Amino acid sequence: MCSKTKLFPGQIPELAKCSVLMRDRSRVEDTIYAMQRAGAGRLQVISDFDMTLTRFAHNGKRVPTTHNILDHRLLIDEDCSKKIRELLNTYYPIEIDAGRTAEDKLPLMVEWWTQVHELLIQQRIRKELLAQAVKESSAMLREGYKVFFDRLTEQQVPLLIFSAGVGDVLEEVIRQNNVFHPNVHIISNYMDFDQTGVLRAFKGQLIHTFNKREGALSHASGLRVLQGRPNVLLLGDSLGDLTMADGVSEHQNILTIGFLNDQMDERKELYVKSFDVVLVKDETMEVPNAILKYIT
Ligand code: TMP
Ligand code: MG
Repeated sequence: MCSKTKLFPGQIPELAKCSVLMRDRSRVEDTIYAMQRAGAGRLQVISDFDMTLTRFAHNGKRVPTTHNILDHRLLIDEDCSKKIRELLNTYYPIEIDAGRTAEDKLPLMVEWWTQVHELLIQQRIRKELLAQAVKESSAMLREGYKVFFDRLTEQQVPLLIFSAGVGDVLEEVIRQNNVFHPNVHIISNYMDFDQTGVLRAFKGQLIHTFNKREGALSHASGLRVLQGRPNVLLLGDSLGDLTMADGVSEHQNILTIGFLNDQMDERKELYVKSFDVVLVKDETMEVPNAILKYIT
């Protein structure tokens, strides 16, 4: 614990850890109190997936995102794998560059996603092989994920997973971890397979890191299970994730939690300005779980 931080009066000592940064501690406390008073019946949780519900790294190695899980010889050939990696090396540094605005990044993200999706389609990926690729990948949810998913289910709080990753892969990851519960709803890029189970396109409007607002307005706002739940706990790892709650009409209290996984020094200030709670290099769900335990 940091000696300079006082313990949260509402019994959430996890918020006093050195890895937890807050721009306005008392606003965070007030929001959590208000959410707790309103109860689980008024709450919804909106979370990003890659590098938010999944770990960023494990034992010094990066954990694959849903797109990177597809980099498996069963699904794509070596040449395609090389091209996808080159695109990642080109565009990921842009995605996380603190020196560029979201407007500046937006067309470049469209370029990245479009090229990767085209490459994947050319590979004629077979649906029946996805489960095996996930099983043999090093995909990993954050430590404490089970408590997180199970508690939301027990308390009948809907969890909207809003991901610019690949929905089919995301579903398989949570299914294989036994947490694809009925209260989980997903908005993501879903694969469109032909009658023989071969990938031929991606369905609907492309979702990338910086257009989640559009998806929130067109999809999330229409989800009936989220209606009448004006309090939102939002989890993300990108500044683009902050717009995931833009579809919540008549929202009352929104608490945003940002995982700062990478480029800590460069992005700390921006993250503290943008998220209510920032978790620096924290590979666990400890803080969200502690807040949820208090609220529900
Ligand atoms: P998210 O919205 O669930 O976090 O998923 C988006 C992440 O996926 C984003 O941070 C970048 C990452 N990504 C890859 O790792 N490889 C790719 O080929 C693409 C297009 C995105
Ligand atoms: Mg993410």
